[in-house]
Amino acid sequence: NDIYRAGVLGRRPAVPTDFPELERRARKASTATGWAYVAGGAGQGRTMRNNRAAFDRWAIVPRMLRGHATRNLSRNLLGTELTAPILLAPVGAGQLIAPDADLHTARAAAATGVPYVFTNQGGTPMEEAAAAMGDTPRWVQLYWSTDEGLVDSLIQRAEAIGAGALVITLDTTLLGWRPQDLNLGSLPFARGLGIAQYTSDPRFRQLVAERIRRAASARPEVTLGAIKSLLSITRNHPGSFLDNLRSPEPRASVETFLDIYSNPRLSWDHIATLRDRTRLPVVLKGIVHPDDAKQAFALGVEGIVVSNHGGRQIDSSIAALDALVRVREAVGPDATVLMDSGIRSGADVFTALALGADAVLLGRPYMYGLAIAGQRGVEEVIANVIAELELTMALTGVQNLAEITRDLVVRNP
Ligand code: FNR
Repeated sequence: NDIYRAGVLGRRPAVPTDFPELERRARKASTATGWAYVAGGAGQGRTMRNNRAAFDRWAIVPRMLRGHATRNLSRNLLGTELTAPILLAPVGAGQLIAPDADLHTARAAAATGVPYVFTNQGGTPMEEAAAAMGDTPRWVQLYWSTDEGLVDSLIQRAEAIGAGALVITLDTTLLGWRPQDLNLGSLPFARGLGIAQYTSDPRFRQLVAERIRRAASARPEVTLGAIKSLLSITRNHPGSFLDNLRSPEPRASVETFLDIYSNPRLSWDHIATLRDRTRLPVVLKGIVHPDDAKQAFALGVEGIVVSNHGGRQIDSSIAALDALVRVREAVGPDATVLMDSGIRSGADVFTALALGADAVLLGRPYMYGLAIAGQRGVEEVIANVIAELELTMALTGVQNLAEITRDLVVRNP
């Protein structure tokens, strides 16, 4: 309502209120490598296109004359109180598109009251991001390290900062085939971007120290080489300077990170160990197969995120929205199922909820707001999505989220 009124009164927003224009402006505000990384997808981009095409195949069928003057968008999700069915997705190495990306996003989350899922590959340690958020809920996302000590350490830190849930991302045990990044030779982690979550970790520092000790005893000249590489990294990439300062030795940190950040052997057995390792609700992110969804709940996890990582991992993967329909059917109405990948507007959120999502995560849209206008940009993107969702609810005769039911959408002929 406020957004509408501002528009009527001729006040211009900081970021465009429609996604195509938001995307155009964000691209203009970004470097080529930053844009390739954030906007890019796997392979020929088919999964990204599938994600969007799936939304185009559904249409909303509104009801009239329901007589509601107000709406309630709140929902309790695994003990986390949401004021709207939206969370900010974990986005790694965000510094590539905006300085202090995680910190500005954390502040925007706090200003809007929308929960933020901290990425494992952030440029800001989770303790600092949490400190910027007051009481606003935060969840913590993990990639499963090959070092189980690091997994435990990250879990303990997540508990210490009051995380509402632990989100384990399953779809990125290896990085996808991403031609845009590969063509520019710009894989962010190799430059030490997005590893502050690690370099601020005691267990990780211990691993780096061991690596340095081993290298130095084998080849004493290594230490001098390491110092030279520190200088060259900081000269070429000032954005990573802080990361480097936090780390005991930057090159050794980057190498240690690349060795241990994810475990290609990850299996259900690893997930099963979580019960004894944390009291936090566990959410598995990246599930698209109905049988995996069933297995997750059979194992006792609290929730899942139906997601194909925004189309960044496999080319020509099933659209997340199509996967959501199949997954919801498989797990029944009571299981907690979130969804992301392709949400671009409030109408999209409505459609996803009608097709069985309990809440959705926003990825690129808020990153684009960040690229254009920093914290304020993120706040506006969030406000716009929520405003359009509320308006869509109003115009479909829906008063609360539970009333966004399956009969309110049909497949386009
Ligand atoms: C991601 N995503 C992601 N997911 C995750 O679990 N950990 C991470 O560190 C990242 N990093 C990341 C970086 C960038 C640049 C993007 C765009 C995405 C995936 C993210 O959480 C989410 O699943 C998708 O972004 C959702 O799709 P849309 O909204 O971008 O289409």
